[in-house]
Amino acid sequence: MKIAMAGTGYVGLVTAVCLAHHGHVVTCVDTNEEKINTLNSLVSPIYEPGLEELMKQHQNQITYTTDYTSAYKNKDVIFIGVGTPEKKDGSANLDYVFAVAKQIAESIDQDCIVVVKSTVPIGTNDKVESYLKTLNSKYRIDVVSNPEFLAQGTAVRDTLHGERIVIGAENEQAMEILKQVYLPFGIPILTMNRRSAEMVKYASNDFLALKISYVNEIANLCESLGANITDVTKGMGMDSRIGNKFLQAGIGYGGSCFPKDTKALHWLSVINDVELKTVKAAIEVNERQKIKLYEKALKQFGDLKQKKIAILGLTFKPNTDDLRDAPSLDNVPLLLDQGANLYAYDPVGMNNFKQKFPTELTYCSSVEEALQDADVCFIFTEWEVFRKLDPSIFTSTMKSPIVYDGRNCYDPSVMKQHGITYISIGR
Ligand code: UGA
Repeated sequence: MKIAMAGTGYVGLVTAVCLAHHGHVVTCVDTNEEKINTLNSLVSPIYEPGLEELMKQHQNQITYTTDYTSAYKNKDVIFIGVGTPEKKDGSANLDYVFAVAKQIAESIDQDCIVVVKSTVPIGTNDKVESYLKTLNSKYRIDVVSNPEFLAQGTAVRDTLHGERIVIGAENEQAMEILKQVYLPFGIPILTMNRRSAEMVKYASNDFLALKISYVNEIANLCESLGANITDVTKGMGMDSRIGNKFLQAGIGYGGSCFPKDTKALHWLSVINDVELKTVKAAIEVNERQKIKLYEKALKQFGDLKQKKIAILGLTFKPNTDDLRDAPSLDNVPLLLDQGANLYAYDPVGMNNFKQKFPTELTYCSSVEEALQDADVCFIFTEWEVFRKLDPSIFTSTMKSPIVYDGRNCYDPSVMKQHGITYISIGR
């Protein structure tokens, strides 16, 4: 099928490349010229394992352009995969979605299906359809909701081998066409009305966020009561009703999705007078959890003035260079306010971090360099290279081997054997 994709972020680009992988011909549109130039040289503007390889493999089926007028012509299906960032009040900003809808209405030259892939509040698909119809009465435009469930770092795998594809449509013909788009993926397709599809996305993300906040609260209680969260979650996870995923305690969730989507659904619940109290609690717990280790360190040291602090990990999770809502962004300003000297290392996130903190931190080229003569080490991201470290590195390089591990990377008893003062979460 001939498909256009508006937006070349994580959702847009990965979906477009995977659609091409399954035989569709795709035109990607973005207003950012620099990004389009990068894509045209077959380089991915985002760090995502496997993406660039697929871009190269299917280069004859994908074009990248800023020219939306021609991109939306002669298309069977047009996807909207632009961002819906958080507004000050917690609600989702839909400006980009409607800006693209306007461009689509102005450019199409045949009947088509518009698919909203961006995460949008329940009822938005209805509004997009009315808006398109008001702007263009010449062609038939059906709007279909098709939320995405890919996670950064595993986006290509999640898209090609997802557990379900959700399609929400208000008429059979549009539903059938979308089913044809996804048939080659061989993934179970679940059909429903548009509002339910929009809700599946929020309800799923918020449930996962809730699961994490719940586990983090249990972890905090474990610390007070002498239990070990690793054993506790193992015991919980073997119950198939609970499941063993998203039970990893730590310094909270970050990223471009959970923080934004919990706030957006909570906002929506409040304005509809059905406040989601569980989601509100998950948000509050997460905010506190992010600085939990900083608070512990402050309590232990009194102040951190002139302390040499090594920071391992800056991104919100491993295998991405994304910093959005990363716990490092909450902790670094607090540590700087304390007058600490920070030495950071992250395998791929340092360039992005430098844009926010160009001179305030010393950026190191290795774990060893960051740890050298440090008084304290904080771990904010569980990159595999950190997990695999031999604990002796902390004793051989640091001035005093004190490690605050926000991602429970090591076995506390092994760290103790090495003479390391090791503070993690819930153990
Ligand atoms: C999340 C969802 O997992 C995807 O299904 C969804 O499509 C995506 O949001 C989205 O809405 O676009 P993502 O934000 O990329 O994906 O990352 P996750 O792997 O879900 O991790 C989110 C945060 O939760 C990270 O900061 C991670 O460290 C934290 N986390 C995750 C925990 O603290 N504990 C866990 O057990 C799991």
